[in-house]
Amino acid sequence: MESKVRKIGVLTSGGDAQGMNAAIRAVVRRALDMGIEVVGIRRGFYGLLHEDFMELKASSVSNIIQQGGTVLFTARCLEMLELEYQKKAADICRKHGIEGLVVIGGDGSFMGAHTLSKQGINVVGIPGTIDRDIACTDYTIGFDTAVNVVYDAVCRLRDTSESHERCNVVEVMGRHCGEIAIWSGIATGADYVIIPEVPESNDFDKIVADITENRKKGKMHNIIIVAEGVEGSRDLAKRIQEATGIDSRYTVLGHIQRGGRPTVRDVKHASMMGSYAVELLAKGGDNRVVAYVDSKYVDFDINEALAMKKKPSLDVWETNNKISSY
Ligand code: F6P
Repeated sequence: MESKVRKIGVLTSGGDAQGMNAAIRAVVRRALDMGIEVVGIRRGFYGLLHEDFMELKASSVSNIIQQGGTVLFTARCLEMLELEYQKKAADICRKHGIEGLVVIGGDGSFMGAHTLSKQGINVVGIPGTIDRDIACTDYTIGFDTAVNVVYDAVCRLRDTSESHERCNVVEVMGRHCGEIAIWSGIATGADYVIIPEVPESNDFDKIVADITENRKKGKMHNIIIVAEGVEGSRDLAKRIQEATGIDSRYTVLGHIQRGGRPTVRDVKHASMMGSYAVELLAKGGDNRVVAYVDSKYVDFDINEALAMKKKPSLDVWETNNKISSY
């Protein structure tokens, strides 16, 4: 296939996610394979506005497939909300002969990409965020690694929680999305999983009543997972201790969830999506986002994708409620 673009750019934007490097590698290798030149743009849209570029050869992306983080660095760039800067970014692309751009990031990054598309630059987004909060796709790069970090951490906490017969509250990431909490909750058999999508999940009186009742039935330690932003884990642990008399502790896992070697699942999706994104640009695709739906790689118009509403995995959350408390 004759490519419709001769030179493309690639950038990572927003919060980093494990597997972003594998996606960059796939973009570079697939593009070169098709005779397309690739420019790496450092620090996301901020770097684009400051012409912070690097040429990417096949060897430039050697030995990064297994590394967390992003070798292109990342940033959040509020300037891209303004028309003046959107025009400037598109002019910079034209000046450097960049005819297409791959943007690896979340919803906010896709909004930035969309504004560039309106200014005449062909863009394709790849969903890269640990949050798994992008509605058009069943998968976002980084989620599996992040949720496995939580799994490992909570398994460790379980040991000490059981030994001390404590209640351990664990706060996980996810901005406004409970997916990390839900998946790690069922994987660790958490007594409670408190998520933003279900405000009733933060029913303090029920939590206290159940913990107390379960102690009588012999359940002598508790794991409660709370998604960040719903309630601070420190306050929750304190309130539980005051209400029940049970020794309680809290742990905020924080940015640990964003680091480390990506899992096979993340590298596989990153490699497939990176390759797919280049093929889309080569066909003349514009304003698209790559997605994984029903076990297939597909793509959507960015506007349509951004208008979709994410459905949380409530079936998983409900099942955990049924099987993880006495
Ligand atoms: O979007 C990924 C994410 O890790 C969210 O889960 C979290 O709320 C946010 O980024 C944290 O952002 P920052 O790294 O800017 O503190």
